[in-house]
Amino acid sequence: MTAFHSRIIGTGSYLPEKTVTNADLAATLDTSDEWIRQRTGICQRHIAAEHENASDLALKASQRALEAAGISADRLDLIIVATSTPDMVFPSTACILQAKLGVRGMPAFDVQAVCSGFVYALATADQFMRSGRYEHVLVVGAEVFSRILDWEDRGTCVLFGDGAGAVVLERGSTPGILAAPLHADGSHAGILSVPGSVCGGKISGRPLLQMDGTAVFKFAVKVLEEVALEALAEAGLQKSDIDWLIPHQANIRILQATAKKLGLSMERVITTVDRHANTSAASVPLALDEAVRDGRIKRGQHVMLEGVGGGFTWGAILIKW
Ligand code: UT7
Repeated sequence: MTAFHSRIIGTGSYLPEKTVTNADLAATLDTSDEWIRQRTGICQRHIAAEHENASDLALKASQRALEAAGISADRLDLIIVATSTPDMVFPSTACILQAKLGVRGMPAFDVQAVCSGFVYALATADQFMRSGRYEHVLVVGAEVFSRILDWEDRGTCVLFGDGAGAVVLERGSTPGILAAPLHADGSHAGILSVPGSVCGGKISGRPLLQMDGTAVFKFAVKVLEEVALEALAEAGLQKSDIDWLIPHQANIRILQATAKKLGLSMERVITTVDRHANTSAASVPLALDEAVRDGRIKRGQHVMLEGVGGGFTWGAILIKW
């Protein structure tokens, strides 16, 4: 029996035009460029224009990924979008994206795993492709987190930004994706949430991000190490085999702590948090696209993607590029 695998054949990303610096925030908020840089490594973030929704950012990132892959959208067999900031309650952002790409027929759905969303979506796509049923799959992480922030809460609003990243996967006989462990623990739901919903035409609860930053920090560092080791063990590889580590871009100190635990120098870690801030499900594909396009990631290398976020959810994708 033929074994099927998935391989990334094109990446793309998109950042909204408008940038907001730490100094811009400090003009209206009790914060400072120094505090934000020191505690998070963030210098600026991109913020979507009023008319831009998650599907608009997803469209631009997808078009770039399809162009890099050298295939047209009508050859896609499945579209998966990871987002926690969908255009509307329904239809899914994936269906809206499909229409904007000008195609129809193939299944399209959203994955909701907050900052682990892209890793969850990529693992899901890999499983579909291993069945042999799908040949080309588009996986996107797209967020407009600026819409769910309390812009008067200095403890959270300085941390996030908007953006989208996408990959096109192709079925093949060699991997590709070597391991994709995923996890969740809903008992930690309260430490990072947007506790609001739509009920009877009204908003019920508070639909703005709230977080216990210290608890999230500790949890993130712990599970990012654990799940990376799990992916390596599944693939029969060692820490020293990792050529590039791309963790979810939440805070430079989380990236540094994870790299240290994995015995990697920061030169092996792709970092965009300084310029993008935390773009939730978009952060990993944004960083991946940057490192592919600037030539750091080369064919044959081992790349470890890692997500961690609300839920709590976490996971890793180990790729032979
Ligand atoms: O995708 C996952 C989502 N989230 C994360 O990954 C975030 C994980 N957590 C973190 O990155 C960090 O915990 C934060 C960056 C959120 C906070 O850093 P910290 O070093 O843990 O600071 P802290 O929360 O202990 O706050 C220290 C002080 C406090 O003042 P007092 O009580 O010491 O007087 C805060 O009120 O810093 C204050 N503070 C600020 N000061 C200036 C909090 N936010 C700000 C701010 N500007 N923006």
